Amino acid sequence: MRVAVITSSDSGYAGEREDLSGPRVQEIAKSFGAQIVYTNLLPDTREVLEEELRKICDEHLADLILTTGGTGFSIRDCMPEATLSVSERVVPGIPEAMRAYSMQFTKRAMLSRAAAGIRKQTLIVNLPGSPKAVEECLEFIFPELEHGVEILTGKAKNCARS
Ligand code: MTE
Repeated sequence: MRVAVITSSDSGYAGEREDLSGPRVQEIAKSFGAQIVYTNLLPDTREVLEEELRKICDEHLADLILTTGGTGFSIRDCMPEATLSVSERVVPGIPEAMRAYSMQFTKRAMLSRAAAGIRKQTLIVNLPGSPKAVEECLEFIFPELEHGVEILTGKAKNCARS
């Protein structure tokens, strides 16, 4: 599976803070056998994020886009809005599952506004912004993402298991 990793962070983009979450997403995806084909660190600017997501999907540069950051309540956080506005089909179950699972670690998981959706043959999934939250969420959902992407890209025709 070809994976693109996009970090949304004004402070990271300005060089004021090291992006630890994007590299953590990459490490975890690789540990599941994924190929990292593209990474980028962008500011929390909706039009910029939308353009990037659209380009990756429309040119089918990746099967899965994992984003980190921009899912909280800060006034500039807009990754879910960018994701939903470029998505042709919404996939609510993935962020619902992440939030439900994450409640065992922190009740603040209920504050995550993460979204997921499909544009053409690419699945986009928002992850929270901290490396710890990325780890907790991504290790939990990744096996199921692989199955979803296999169906999306036509590599699997049906669900052999429940
Ligand atoms: N999910 C998990 N698994 N672990 C966490 O520590 N932090 C939460 C939440 N989801 C957290 C989590 C917090 S504190 C916030 S504010 C939201 O994700 C949004 O995160 P973001 O603004 O870093 O994207």
